[in-house]
Amino acid sequence: MLSQRVEKALNDQIRVEAESSQVYLSMASWAEVKGLEGISQFMYKHSDEERMHMLKLVKYVNERGGHAHISDLKAPKTDFGSFQNMFQELYEHEIFVSNSINELVHVTLEEKDYATHNFLQWYVAEQIEEEALARTILDKINLIGNDKGGLYLFDRDVQQITVESAAAANPEE
Ligand code: FEO
Repeated sequence: MLSQRVEKALNDQIRVEAESSQVYLSMASWAEVKGLEGISQFMYKHSDEERMHMLKLVKYVNERGGHAHISDLKAPKTDFGSFQNMFQELYEHEIFVSNSINELVHVTLEEKDYATHNFLQWYVAEQIEEEALARTILDKINLIGNDKGGLYLFDRDVQQITVESAAAANPEE
């Protein structure tokens, strides 16, 4: 059984993941309208992943005798200025999510809920990867600067950027 405090903290995280999915969906739509096809596909996929993060939590809460709450969500903004700014916001959003996961892990330790603590390790590992991926993308954007050819290639290839490929390209890191 989940303690009330752990159940509430998990429900809060369900909302964070759902709102993350909405944020990236809004980014996908903005990029699509701007003709940034590759970036848009990247964001649609990222939005789906956040929904999967949310669903995994919903299933866990209900399996443990709790009740996962599906709440209303804060509407994301609809304009991101530039794709460079958008990826900066993605990075900052992932740091916010990591902090939220860390707080949640802290609650499970205080409540001595080692099963939930164990379950959350997947999210801890996932956040390390998501932050690394976002940093890699920002590095690439900085390298490109205002080079039009570079921007074209970035939009074409952004879906292929993974944490593994980034590490292979920068072995000194
Ligand atoms: Fe579910 Fe991108 O954190």
